[in-house]
Amino acid sequence: MNSSPLPIVRDVAGLRAVVRDWRRAGARVGLTPTMGALHAGHLSLVRAAKERCGKVVASLFVNPRQFGPNEDFDRYPRDEAGDAALLAGAGCDLLYAPDRTAMYPAGFATSVTVADVSAPLEGEMRPHFFSGVATVVAKLLLQTMPDAAFFGEKDYQQLLVIQQMARDLDMPIAIIGCPTLREQDGLAMSSRNAYLNAEERRIAGRLNHILHDAIKAFRNGDPLVGVESEAARHLVAAGFSKVDYVAIRDAETLAAPAAGRACRILAAAWLGKTRLIDNMAV
Ligand code: PAF
Repeated sequence: MNSSPLPIVRDVAGLRAVVRDWRRAGARVGLTPTMGALHAGHLSLVRAAKERCGKVVASLFVNPRQFGPNEDFDRYPRDEAGDAALLAGAGCDLLYAPDRTAMYPAGFATSVTVADVSAPLEGEMRPHFFSGVATVVAKLLLQTMPDAAFFGEKDYQQLLVIQQMARDLDMPIAIIGCPTLREQDGLAMSSRNAYLNAEERRIAGRLNHILHDAIKAFRNGDPLVGVESEAARHLVAAGFSKVDYVAIRDAETLAAPAAGRACRILAAAWLGKTRLIDNMAV
């Protein structure tokens, strides 16, 4: 395991100088954008990038534009030194950690909005979210200009939004989705799992099982609306304080499912002050 300190750059000029040298030496470059508080899921993205590209940049930036006024921006876990050590161990070559003014200097006035696939589900619950994500990811992609960028399927709708953006804006960058990593009880790994107390953590493990049961019922021919509302009812019975949605949707467009097309089940639910999301192929 590589435990040497990871080089860190904090501005675009420094980032581009390193990437230019790698390219001159013939390397391919992968980017794994993160907001830090890294877990094994993030490190699997770094490993996928390393395997496919050879040189890997990880970005660490807690992006204020994707948090609403009453969300957890201030308490979002931050540990740059710990994250850098984990990244080095996973084979990352460079950490890009700009501060807020480097990313959004005074006078910054641009925002990237992706229609359609941004609109339902997370888009209804968190109207600011995808525009904040698309804006920062567009910047990270243009700053780094990697061959490929790697995102977890855990944030499935986010992955679709970023793929749509890269396609629409002719970005010559492959957007790669990587499978969700799960804890022993099936809970999807997430930086926000750190907010859960012991009782909430126990209940959180029920989410993936309830989604599996819903998939079974849907495959057995139970009507869609009944499957979704039954799953929401089971979540509340298990101890979730509020369910934002449980929805079975077209896996590419997030429109209502249609015969012969791949589907995905997606859910968001609250345990106290913590909002968890999960999704699976149907
Ligand atoms: O998934 C995340 O961690 C963030 O939304 C991302 C893609 C790094 C943009 O801030």
